[in-house]
Amino acid sequence: MSDRNVVLIGFMGSGKSSVGEALADSVGYSYVDTDKLIEKKTGRKIKDIIPTDGEEAFRDLETEAIRGLADVKRSIISVGGGAPLREENRKLLSRIGLVIHLSATPEEIYQRVKHETHRPLLAKSPDLRATIKDMLAKRAEAYSFADVVVDTTLLSVEEVVSKCIEILARDTRCDV
Ligand code: S3P
Repeated sequence: MSDRNVVLIGFMGSGKSSVGEALADSVGYSYVDTDKLIEKKTGRKIKDIIPTDGEEAFRDLETEAIRGLADVKRSIISVGGGAPLREENRKLLSRIGLVIHLSATPEEIYQRVKHETHRPLLAKSPDLRATIKDMLAKRAEAYSFADVVVDTTLLSVEEVVSKCIEILARDTRCDV
C-alpha cells in the first residue's frame, strides 16, 4: 500500500470519526481527528471554545491544526464539518491526501444528531431540521472540492468503510 493519506470531510453527523477510525484499523493506518488535536492543544472542549471565543477563533485553531498535518504519512484524517469553508484549508487538505466527502441527506443527518449535545453550532437551534437543511445548502459548494463523494445515507459504518476501501483500491496513486 502506498503512503497516500485519506482525508474525510463532510457535515456534522456524516460519520467522519467512526468511519475514519474503522477505516484506519482496516488498512493499518494511523487515525487523526483535527477536533481532537485542537482539544489536546488547548486543553479545552470544542463545545466550550466556540461559545466562549467565537467561531472565527475556532476556525483559526482549525486551520493551524490542518497546517500541522503537512508531513503526516499513512494516515486517515477527519476534519470538522466546517473545515472546508476556508479556501486555505481546502488547498491544504487536497495536498495532504485523497479527499473523500461523506455525504448524507438532511433528514438522515437530523436523525443521527437529534439527540446529541456536543455540537455548539446545532445545540441551540430552535428548528434543528431547518438549520441542518440550511447549513448543508450553504456548505455544498465548499464540499465540492472533494475527489470522491460517498453517500452514507442508510449505510452502516462497515458499509461506508468497504466503499472507501474500494475507492482506495481504484485510486491510481494508492494500491490498497
Ligand atoms: C463543526 C463541526 C464539528 C466541530 C465544530 C464545528 C462545523 O465537527 O468541528 O463543532 O462547523 O460543522 P464534526 O463535524 O466532527 O461534528
